[in-house]
Amino acid sequence: MCGIVGYIGHREAYPIVIKGLHRLEYRGYDSAGIALFDGKELNLCKTKGKVADLETKFNGTTSTAGNVGIGHTRWATHGVPNDVNSHPHYSNSGNLVIIHNGIIENYSSLKKELKKRGYSFESDTDTEVLVNLIEDVMINEDVMLGKAVQIALNQTIGAYAITVFDKRKPNELVVARLGSPLAIGIGENEFFIASDASPFIEFTNNAIYLEDGEMAVVRLGKEIKVRKIHDDSFVDPYVQQLQMNLEQIEKGGYEHFMLKEIYEQPNAITDTYRGRMLVDEGIIRMAGVDDNIERIANAKRIIIVACGTSWHAGLVAEYIFEDLARIPVEVEYASEFRYRNPVIYENDVVIAISQSGETADTMAAIKLAKEKGAFVFGVCNVVGSSISRESHAGAYTHAGPEIGVASTKAFTTQITVLTLMALKLAKHRGTISDSGFRYHLQQLEAIPTKISKVLETTNEHIKEIAFKYKEAPNCLYLGRGYNFPVALEGALKLKEISYIHAEGYPAAEMKHGPIALIDEQMPVVVIATKVGHYDKVVSNIQEIKSRKGKIIAVVTEGDEAVKELADFVIEVPDTIESLTPLLTTIPMQLLSYHIAVMLEKNVDQPRNLAKSVTVE
Ligand code: AGP
Repeated sequence: MCGIVGYIGHREAYPIVIKGLHRLEYRGYDSAGIALFDGKELNLCKTKGKVADLETKFNGTTSTAGNVGIGHTRWATHGVPNDVNSHPHYSNSGNLVIIHNGIIENYSSLKKELKKRGYSFESDTDTEVLVNLIEDVMINEDVMLGKAVQIALNQTIGAYAITVFDKRKPNELVVARLGSPLAIGIGENEFFIASDASPFIEFTNNAIYLEDGEMAVVRLGKEIKVRKIHDDSFVDPYVQQLQMNLEQIEKGGYEHFMLKEIYEQPNAITDTYRGRMLVDEGIIRMAGVDDNIERIANAKRIIIVACGTSWHAGLVAEYIFEDLARIPVEVEYASEFRYRNPVIYENDVVIAISQSGETADTMAAIKLAKEKGAFVFGVCNVVGSSISRESHAGAYTHAGPEIGVASTKAFTTQITVLTLMALKLAKHRGTISDSGFRYHLQQLEAIPTKISKVLETTNEHIKEIAFKYKEAPNCLYLGRGYNFPVALEGALKLKEISYIHAEGYPAAEMKHGPIALIDEQMPVVVIATKVGHYDKVVSNIQEIKSRKGKIIAVVTEGDEAVKELADFVIEVPDTIESLTPLLTTIPMQLLSYHIAVMLEKNVDQPRNLAKSVTVE
């Protein structure tokens, strides 16, 4: 959580840093701040609120001059969101200034020590403690900034991506990371620092992603030297060629990133299977699976770890893997898995799913699984992300940058990758016939066109449904089999962007409790496609109807029976059962989107959330 940006070079730093903060605002948006060095003075401006509020505050109050700048957009951990707790933070002398993404867990004991030594603190943050600890080391050990950062970090417990500037050494920035991402963009005698590459993509395609436990002194006119924080040893930095382009991270005419990303799904899914799925030859090629086929195909068990929407994709995968490849699967919340001393065998395969590839809980679950000897396969969207690097092997979803906090195309592309993987394993294990395998490939190939059709034919109708139910205080989502996780995902989407309370349930579980909630005020979204326990779900719809609940049903094109019962139906094209989630999810996304827009909520940046959850 939190986004950090830094610049040092020959250009004006302010426009680069402010634009970078806008691009990173998805990571946290309760306060923001920038410090600039104009050659003589450090000028700092920070405020509670969004990056736009920071721009307003800068106007007329603070100089925007200078070729060095660091900026921060915050998702509060220690200390409420207010002006004082916003970053950057000065050290007591005013010489050092820092931005930080992460948590210093032992900040309280460090603060006590520093107070004894005469330091005072303005804010409630752990970050102000860290910058003063660095200053204290500089004074007491008589060392330069880079060394002081290293010594200080070795006294901390927690997670960080930091950038520190010392106004007495204006040609360098010191950066370090542990558990939170940090990229260094390399230009012509200029450097960019950021939580991801989006702030500097128009300036350079060359970037170094620091690994956990690494730091660097970024000095003008010098090559970047990367070293390990714990033992000072040098590391050969790998300069990566970025594939992202500017268009991908802009809204392209859509009102919100979320809507753009919903509409990108046909292309995103095509990008996910392109080059991997050779329909005519009847082959799936996935390097990460091919290179480890025996290990994965012979796993006694697959454990899927993930959070939020990615966890829902994992639930869909559980059905696919068990159904097609006949490998037992357990799906775990990464946050629970890591703390409950799970039984993990060496012949287990752990699949970690994460859009960002930076989720702290998922990362910790991977580390635990590796310690116990399991093989870890990462399914990530962000190329070069921490989880993708920490995994033994993996597959990228190739969805392109997802900026809206509510995950959309990440979910459908995760399901696509996991479907390919399950099919490949099923073929290798002989649990699917050749004709069945080819048929699945053909059906998957047709999905992007079918999603385009859903988008084209249902959007206006869903707007009407949204208008009708936008004031509902609660909403129930029901589905069975493959579409039970879709019900969970539909409820999560509605909750997170419209703040309407919503619950997802397996349709058959309704009679064990949730049915008590149903009255004439309660909208119930039911997924009732022709394939997948159709008759049973129709019976559930009858039960809702007889209790006067309002029914919004997602059905297969041409369905007449449900039309008779439901208040609204949304039609999706027919497909095989295992692929229905890729179609039924789309109306869920559109419904929550339109309700949130009608309620005038901040669709792309819902309250209290952040895109990348890099804290526990
Ligand atoms: C979903 O809309 C959320 N933004 C959230 O649940 C998200 O899926 C979760 O935080 C996991 O993130 P990840 O996929 O980047 O690991």
